Amino acid sequence: MATISQSSPRSPAETKPEVVPVQRAPSVLELIGNTPMLEVRKVTAGMLRPGVRVFAKLEGFNPGGSVKDRPARKMVEVGLERGELRPGKVIIDSTSGNTGIALAMVGAVLGYPVELVMASNVSRERKKIIEAFGAKPIFSDPMEGSDGAIRVCRRIIEENPERYFKPDQYNNEANSLAHLETTGPEVWRQTSGRITHFVAGIGTGGTIMGTGRYLKLRNPGVKLIAVEPDDPMHGLEGLKHMASSIVPGIYHEELLDAKMQVSTEDAYEMVYALGQVEGVLVGQSAGAAMVAALRVARTLKEGCVVTVFPDFGDKYLSTNLWIGWQQWRRERLQKIVGKWNASTSVTT
Ligand SMILES: Cc1ncc(COP(=O)(O)O)c(C=O)c1O
Repeated sequence: MATISQSSPRSPAETKPEVVPVQRAPSVLELIGNTPMLEVRKVTAGMLRPGVRVFAKLEGFNPGGSVKDRPARKMVEVGLERGELRPGKVIIDSTSGNTGIALAMVGAVLGYPVELVMASNVSRERKKIIEAFGAKPIFSDPMEGSDGAIRVCRRIIEENPERYFKPDQYNNEANSLAHLETTGPEVWRQTSGRITHFVAGIGTGGTIMGTGRYLKLRNPGVKLIAVEPDDPMHGLEGLKHMASSIVPGIYHEELLDAKMQVSTEDAYEMVYALGQVEGVLVGQSAGAAMVAALRVARTLKEGCVVTVFPDFGDKYLSTNLWIGWQQWRRERLQKIVGKWNASTSVTT
């Protein structure tokens, strides 16, 4: 009787040598980062010159489900190193959701209680996930957005300063440092140093500042383009409209080469397109990042544009993004692309 090792291969895949090592980790914290990069080819088909490519880092592959796992781990690590976080303390922060989820996960792993202040209109899924990781949500006025959450959080800490460790993602350089140490080198490696433009949405600014700084160190010619909503009353969870917001301390606009404003409507159209054409279901801030990346890519003769999709879309299924949505067709994407500045159009 043939043993398993003597039997003939059942599929071509079985004839190939094993190239992907089995990933094993002693803690979920060690599975943060090293996210895959997708070449966005189908949504961009027919819209770019032949020498232009667009890639997206799929940050939804992080164990907490978003790009925010990176700064959350780093800010807690630095807090522990400095003795600002020690047994008996509670981790608290104001967060639009993803940082909260990430901090809740890190707190669960390390055994620290976590309390999170957020506007009460963040998606139901996010609130549930935070609670599932054992953290306590505290809700602020939805009309005041993320700035309202910042103010409530400040008040809570003022009442009992010794009780809390506040990572303070808006003003903690460890936030950008996480991206300088991980996202930047990954992007550089994954593009073999060919990246020409880095496009990312701004919430705290950590992603674009840290990744951008690393990329400029490797090649000062890399252009950094930040993406923000075009309206203070936008529907792009995770992103900040800078002119009407408290500007984060870690956000240094002088590092940027350009800033692009994206409408909620265009970002939503792009989310639908990415799901149905590319097969990637993402959140609305990824839609905005992709709109900007495509707009940049369409101005180029040659180039390698990299953007970041901060998370996947399942957390947003109960939000306005999907309310009223019924049927989407590719022509709708062509329509929004058509309305962008005619001088940036590329015909193929
Ligand atoms: C969904 C989403 N997209 C984008 C961002 C922006 O990232 P950063 O804070 O690094 O600017 C955030 C930040 O919270 C986010 O939650």
